[in-house]
Amino acid sequence: MKYLIAANWKMHKTVAETLEYLEIFLPSVKDLFAVDIMIAPPFTALASASIKLDAAKKEGEYNVFLGAQNMFYAEKGAYTGEISPLMLNELNVDYVIVGHSERRQIFGEKDNLINNKVFSAIEHGIRPILCVGETLEEREQGITLKVVENQIRKGLAGLGADIQFVDIAYEPVWAIGTGKNATPEQAEEVHRFIRSLINELSKGNDDKTRILYGGSVKPENARDLIKQPNINGFLVGSASLDPKKFYQIITEVLEV
Ligand code: 13P
Repeated sequence: MKYLIAANWKMHKTVAETLEYLEIFLPSVKDLFAVDIMIAPPFTALASASIKLDAAKKEGEYNVFLGAQNMFYAEKGAYTGEISPLMLNELNVDYVIVGHSERRQIFGEKDNLINNKVFSAIEHGIRPILCVGETLEEREQGITLKVVENQIRKGLAGLGADIQFVDIAYEPVWAIGTGKNATPEQAEEVHRFIRSLINELSKGNDDKTRILYGGSVKPENARDLIKQPNINGFLVGSASLDPKKFYQIITEVLEV
């Protein structure tokens, strides 16, 4: 299984800053095919990033993919402020992050909406990265696995073997943007559980589904995390905003 190292920039970087970043980052990952790399800029910078990436791919070999941070499930309609899968298709977007905890907590996204987005993304050839994870309160109550199971069962409901077209990101909410990552053992416990769950739900068709860890991933902790057998890549926030740090995380993974 090829691991996926993904950057979620969240609400950071203008068009100019995005182009500046790619100018530095792309040469560092030229001809690097051992892992899949994904970058998810904000919507306003997607088109420019897409053009820049296409141009780079005409000049050399890059295994870098473009991601969106969110998507609505309908193709078009009266949905003020939303972005459709067709709009992402037009920009050659390969991945979409779905159900991020910030979308769930700040924007009130529920599992059935997230499930609709997962279906629509797959239908339009965009690979969803379904995010799940418990809050600190839930962890302290000892219900982490129950929370994650519920999010996965509902988020992937009705997919069956199509789970092979999805990646999962386990992002404990208490580890996001706090500098405090889950220990490799804490993460591995949940990843192992997710692997067995999606194996059951997909009836064994989960060998292409990567389970990413997210939450304060940085060059200093990437190596110990990626050594865990059920951690198949990362979804990186803050540390991905610096092209050198993001590249360092990639090299840590390659060295393991
Ligand atoms: P940080 O890496 O900033 O903790 O963010 C993680 C995240 O939410 C990625 O989606």
